[in-house]
Amino acid sequence: MSPCQQIIVAMIMPLVLCVYVPLTRAQPGFVSIDCGSSTTYNDTNGITWVPDTGYTFTGRNYVTNSTTTNPLHNLRYFPENRDKNCYVLPATPNNFYMVRVSFLYPDFLNSSFRLEMEAQLAATITFQANSSTIPQVYEAYLSTTRDTIYVCLARSTTADVPFMSSLELRPLDTNNMYKILAQGNYLYNNFHANFGSPTPIIRYPDDPYDRQWKNNIPGVNPISNQLAINTTSVFVDFNHWNKVPEIVMQTADSWPKGQSVTITNSFLPDNNNNYYIAFDFAEISPEAENQSRSFSLALNDRTVTNNIFVANLAGGMYVAYELYYPDVLLNSTGTMKLNPDPTSQLGPILNALELFVLTDPAPNRTFLADVLAIESVKESLNLTSWTGDPCVYTPYDWIKCNNDIIPRVITVDLSNYNSMGILPEALNNLTALTKLWLNNNSLRGPIPNLSALTNLQSLRLEDNILTGDIPTWLTSLPSLQELLLSNNSLAGPIPPALLKNTNLTFE
Ligand SMILES: *[C@@H]1O[C@H](CO)[C@@H](O)[C@H](O)[C@H]1NC(C)=O
Ligand SMILES: *[C@@H]1O[C@H](CO)[C@@H](O)[C@H](O)[C@H]1NC(C)=O
Ligand SMILES: *[C@@H]1O[C@H](CO)[C@@H](O)[C@H](O)[C@H]1NC(C)=O
Ligand SMILES: *[C@@H]1O[C@H](CO)[C@@H](O)[C@H](O)[C@H]1NC(C)=O
Ligand SMILES: *[C@@H]1O[C@H](CO)[C@@H](O)[C@H](O)[C@H]1NC(C)=O
Ligand SMILES: *[C@@H]1O[C@H](CO)[C@@H](O)[C@H](O)[C@H]1NC(C)=O
Ligand SMILES: *[C@@H]1O[C@H](CO)[C@@H](O)[C@H](O)[C@H]1NC(C)=O
Ligand SMILES: *[C@@H]1O[C@H](CO)[C@@H](O)[C@H](O)[C@H]1NC(C)=O
Ligand SMILES: *[C@@H]1O[C@H](CO)[C@@H](O)[C@H](O)[C@H]1NC(C)=O
Ligand SMILES: *[C@@H]1O[C@H](CO)[C@@H](O)[C@H](O)[C@H]1NC(C)=O
Ligand SMILES: *[C@@H]1O[C@H](CO)[C@@H](O)[C@H](O)[C@H]1NC(C)=O
Ligand SMILES: *[C@@H]1O[C@H](CO)[C@@H](O)[C@H](O)[C@H]1NC(C)=O
Repeated sequence: MSPCQQIIVAMIMPLVLCVYVPLTRAQPGFVSIDCGSSTTYNDTNGITWVPDTGYTFTGRNYVTNSTTTNPLHNLRYFPENRDKNCYVLPATPNNFYMVRVSFLYPDFLNSSFRLEMEAQLAATITFQANSSTIPQVYEAYLSTTRDTIYVCLARSTTADVPFMSSLELRPLDTNNMYKILAQGNYLYNNFHANFGSPTPIIRYPDDPYDRQWKNNIPGVNPISNQLAINTTSVFVDFNHWNKVPEIVMQTADSWPKGQSVTITNSFLPDNNNNYYIAFDFAEISPEAENQSRSFSLALNDRTVTNNIFVANLAGGMYVAYELYYPDVLLNSTGTMKLNPDPTSQLGPILNALELFVLTDPAPNRTFLADVLAIESVKESLNLTSWTGDPCVYTPYDWIKCNNDIIPRVITVDLSNYNSMGILPEALNNLTALTKLWLNNNSLRGPIPNLSALTNLQSLRLEDNILTGDIPTWLTSLPSLQELLLSNNSLAGPIPPALLKNTNLTFE
């Protein structure tokens, strides 16, 4: 429906009334963060952008000198001396999402840093001072296991200053789209190509999932010899698998009888990688009412699907049909080909093509009981600005973890952290701990019960203002080799067993 309406008022004087009303519709589940910005605004697509307050707790705002418009004009950079800084996005467990991260123009420095999605390393981002005004954009398609999604920036060296310009979260349809996500693999977007369309980019609100469908991707589309067809006046039933939007399915390139169609994968890296590819077809050419069209699809010159008779497969003309290949090895030398069947009266047709890098199943986030205990430690010791997963991909500076398939926290080292507060009972839930160092802070109150820490080898609590008795359970920690409690306000006798234990260094 056009926002422009013609109202003819009277015969004598036709009045053309044309009012453009920017439509801002509800965007269910969208989170659109303009990093470093301080205002909320609606963009021309009708998307509401918000500042990053509440999504991250570190870093500083910066307004770039670039002429780029919002949301890329501001950014947040992270000069703090810490290895990982995260944004925490709200999510529903076991749902599929697209997360889009954009980086543009740190006109103040060189920078190289890691982008981490959940527990997985997504990319290494490199910017040189004054290098580029073209944003680097990463889109990840993933399924959630918990009620948050962590998007983190991690330093490669202590000199690096990570930054982020914008961050977008888009829920997908879990029942149909990108089914391989359910297995824990992530998809990193290379492109969504739209064939036969005069529109450079189609996105929200035409695509309710806000993917960006482009009509001119170097090396991908258009191909050559094509005839662009469009049927924007005819409804196309687009509701198939990845739900390529109707306006994308309403255009296509078609090729003459006998013509083979080749996409050379020269836009891909030279090394083999695993890719997810989806071809989208809808028979939208009136010619096909009376002439047959069928073709086959070959990847790297190996036919993967024969007899693609689009209208038949889809169950009629003007109905979308998707062929997807969730795990294909490709490199820059390969090809994707549509070969017409010898008897076909028309050449191939292609409406849309999506290509993603397919990752291995993403690593698990940290053991949940450890995460909850660490949350509690952060609350008690004023460390809540540490966000993201404690262990993966990059651990917090003060934590070390093991390599279990569900990682456990094995070291907490908060020595000399200037921390104040009372030691939380939750420490006793970190049952894989081998080392707990909290020395030289201003910690008060009693030593909590840590008797469940049966793997604990080293406990350092010296140089604090702890009070109460030296607990007797300390004598029964089976793995304890080092116990430092000096320079506190602890009272009571030293349990004799501590002094007798020749395996233990005790101060
Ligand atoms: C953005 O659009 C919504 C309507 O969806 C409106 O309620 C809101 O006031 C607008 N915000 C701004 C900052 O214009
Ligand atoms: C950005 O612009 C401001 C004012 O125009 C100028 O003072 C500053 O030096 C510029 N910074 C860079 C890195 O170019
Ligand atoms: C940025 O990196 C480039 C290439 O490594 C180097 O030539 C340049 O001097 C660096 N600039 C700064 C400000 O560090
Ligand atoms: C970036 O370019 C501006 C002028 O174009 C210059 O003043 C500034 O020194 C440059 N910054 C770096 C780090 O090279
Ligand atoms: C479809 O074709 C019509 C007329 O040929 C043209 O005006 C319109 O812009 C085209 N629309 C699309 C989406 O290609
Ligand atoms: C297809 O054939 C029918 C019957 O012969 C005819 O009415 C129709 O116009 C033809 N369609 C096209 C696109 O040629
Ligand atoms: C690239 O793919 C081709 C098959 O299309 C294969 O023969 C070749 O070994 C691959 N190259 C690399 C570097 O993996
Ligand atoms: C994550 O943990 C589950 C057990 O809950 C395990 O089956 C799976 O292999 C793990 N995933 C990875 C990538 O290690
Ligand atoms: C510690 O573990 C106990 C028993 O599993 C649980 O009830 C409690 O909520 C946990 N506390 C924290 C802070 O994780
Ligand atoms: C908590 O830590 C922040 C720095 O992260 C500091 O500015 C603040 O003063 C601390 N608050 C207390 C009560 O220690
Ligand atoms: C204790 O921590 C402070 C910083 O919080 C540091 O300056 C001091 O050197 C530390 N003392 C010892 C004995 O490590
Ligand atoms: C000291 O360690 C040895 C070997 O690990 C063990 O056999 C012995 O029981 C320990 N002694 C005490 C008092 O824990």
